[in-house]
Amino acid sequence: MTQREHDVLLWGATGFTGRLVADYLAAHRGPLVVALGGRNRQKLEAVRREVAAVTPSFADAPIVLGDATDPASLADACARSRVVLTTVGPYYQYGKELARAAAAAGCDYCDLTGEVTFWRWLLDEVEPVAKRTGARLVPSAGFDSIPSDLGVAMLAAHAMERHGRTLSETRLVVTKMRGGVSGGTLASAMGLAELARKDAGVRALLRDPYALSPDRARDLSNDGRDPMNVRHDADLDVWTAPFVMGAINTRVVRRSNAARGHAYGKEFSYGEWMSFGSGARGFALANGANAALLAFLGAAALPPTRMLLERVLPGAGEGPSAEARQSGFFHVSITARMAGGGPLLVGRVEGKQDPGYGATAKMISETAMGLLDQPGDGGVHTTAVALGDRLITRLRRAGMTFVIEERP
Ligand SMILES: NC(=O)c1ccc[n+]([C@@H]2O[C@H](COP(=O)([O-])OP(=O)(O)OC[C@H]3O[C@@H](n4cnc5c(N)ncnc54)[C@H](OP(=O)(O)O)[C@@H]3O)[C@@H](O)[C@H]2O)c1
Repeated sequence: MTQREHDVLLWGATGFTGRLVADYLAAHRGPLVVALGGRNRQKLEAVRREVAAVTPSFADAPIVLGDATDPASLADACARSRVVLTTVGPYYQYGKELARAAAAAGCDYCDLTGEVTFWRWLLDEVEPVAKRTGARLVPSAGFDSIPSDLGVAMLAAHAMERHGRTLSETRLVVTKMRGGVSGGTLASAMGLAELARKDAGVRALLRDPYALSPDRARDLSNDGRDPMNVRHDADLDVWTAPFVMGAINTRVVRRSNAARGHAYGKEFSYGEWMSFGSGARGFALANGANAALLAFLGAAALPPTRMLLERVLPGAGEGPSAEARQSGFFHVSITARMAGGGPLLVGRVEGKQDPGYGATAKMISETAMGLLDQPGDGGVHTTAVALGDRLITRLRRAGMTFVIEERP
């Protein structure tokens, strides 16, 4: 592995998110060789020039050409790289050949998918090859699902180390967040809605709270279907509505528990919510936001309204402005009860910059560099299973907050 030409291949460097990842990697790569990959040489050279204007040593970064629809180009790119970090989505549409190529070449891999369908496809179709070659494939290494996955892993480790206990009812609440959305993210959400409209199997998968189970025979049954109602969070005294990204994050967190032999607990249950504040105002805002989200999901699933949405929402390559990204941030609070009692554990995970873009570029870049640092078994892994504590340490060093307090 150490003989390969590139330490990290950034696949999709010309996209909205890929461009931000290029900036982050260039500034933080140290002695690592980071290559820029994509299908258009002129665009890749332009990205390299722009990044090198800020980080001059990046001017001779290698460029790797290929196409998501050309498996031979992807096999060659992966054989020359130790880790491939991909921002080319929607992944169910454009990501399959790259994942296959990475697994076959024994090249580690991380991505930003929020698509349960793509995750399940990786587990069913690619994981057997990855286990043979030793490639580690780590999907959802951005705002979805790192704060959830590592935040809960941190609380479970604390409960066991300090109290010798496992977790039971655990809830993540997004308490504050400012951020936007890019064309690629919307295309992924709409692609998933379209797939679900056409295919009953996909609808069943999306409804399944344990859709990413590593072993269906050993699934817990503590969590039912995703909630659609607002609820009052008594621990934080705020009104909450279901968090839109809970649809992927909850599956990832439940998989981490199962993949570690239910180390978080056999009584572990998990949900994700978004806070709209306290009192009558919080109640009204939570109901309004919940109704708006349900309307958006309905509109995204139906062809005529989806076409209208596509006209007014950001297209490919578009996303929040530099000012909006810079002034963005996220704060999440995870409250966990322990099986058998004890204090309430409250974890906080916080980051600066737009969660889906500036903060995501940091999270996936640190994941890729973490894979280079830490060996492990081949397979398709959550971030908590592949890197766990070490990734928390990296992200703390990179400015993110991961803390725990105990309340009686
Ligand atoms: N998990 C998270 O927190 C998170 C956050 C942000 C984004 N995302 C996900 O990241 C993905 C990208 O979003 P985005 O807004 O950055 O998308 P985008 O701006 O549309 O970029 C898409 C990239 O894919 C490339 N591409 C498209 N077709 C290709 C092909 N056939 N072969 C090679 N490359 C191809 C594009 O290359 P060209 O420039 O040549 O067209 C571009 O580099 C989406 O799936 C989104 O959901 C996730």
